[in-house]
Amino acid sequence: MELNTLLFSVENGIATIIINRPDKMNALNKDVIADLSSAFDEVYSNKEIKSVILTGAGQKAFVAGADITEFIDLDKTGGTQIARVGQENVFNKIENCPKPVVAAVNGFALGGGCELAMCCHFRIASENAKFGQPEVNLGLIPGYGGTQRLTQLVGKGRAMELCMTAQVANANEALAMGLVNHVTTLDSLIDKSKEILTTINTKSPMALSKVIACINKTGSADGFETEIKEFGECFGTLEMKEGVSAFLEKRKANFG
Ligand code: COA
Repeated sequence: MELNTLLFSVENGIATIIINRPDKMNALNKDVIADLSSAFDEVYSNKEIKSVILTGAGQKAFVAGADITEFIDLDKTGGTQIARVGQENVFNKIENCPKPVVAAVNGFALGGGCELAMCCHFRIASENAKFGQPEVNLGLIPGYGGTQRLTQLVGKGRAMELCMTAQVANANEALAMGLVNHVTTLDSLIDKSKEILTTINTKSPMALSKVIACINKTGSADGFETEIKEFGECFGTLEMKEGVSAFLEKRKANFG
């Protein structure tokens, strides 16, 4: 796998993916989108990887949005294509990743950056993080799923206000509205993310993938039915046998 815009490493089952264009605030150009798609293909297939931290290089930005310099000459077809390719190849791929993905938001998460953080399974922010959907300033709207995921995370009224005003929320405001789960110092952001993932990595990978699949169905017509099906599929698996046996034998489960 050749990645030009990302740093990718794996340690103790945790893949750390760093978007590495700090001089451009880690803005998402076509190369970053292509690399993120490849990186998550690797996450899906590499058995050594149990979970993922996604973050930005430097101390200022997670991702300050889609790369605005690529927009000026696009027409309707080009704009539609950017949103479709991004959503299908990256944002939906991350959201539906069967392994837990945490966004470690280390600064500006604006536009596509906020959308990227929101397609991760949950978010941890450093104190300097800033979140917003400022696309209306550019005569645009969110195109990487922001109108949908922001509404799911913070509710319709707050999503409307954030997308209409282009206002930026600081880390504590994001915490208060449920956009992030924790706020830490910038220095401890990755350690805090690793600490949570180290706990998660002791759980059944099969069950974790089913939690993700079911929670991602929230609000859809077959959400409850999906849960019944996924719950049923746990039975008879080696991981379910190990988990239940460990409880009955008063020992810690070992899911390998
Ligand atoms: N696309 C392309 N380039 C971007 C970018 C983006 N979304 N965000 C930042 N950059 C570039 C800047 O153009 C600048 O490049 P330059 O040094 O070649 O001029 C570099 O990153 C540093 O950004 P700068 O604006 O100088 O930093 P700042 O600290 O003054 O401001 C921000 C930081 C994030 C507030 C500001 O860059 C910004 O508003 N970015 C755009 C946010 C946005 O609208 N995102 C939604 C896009 S749909």
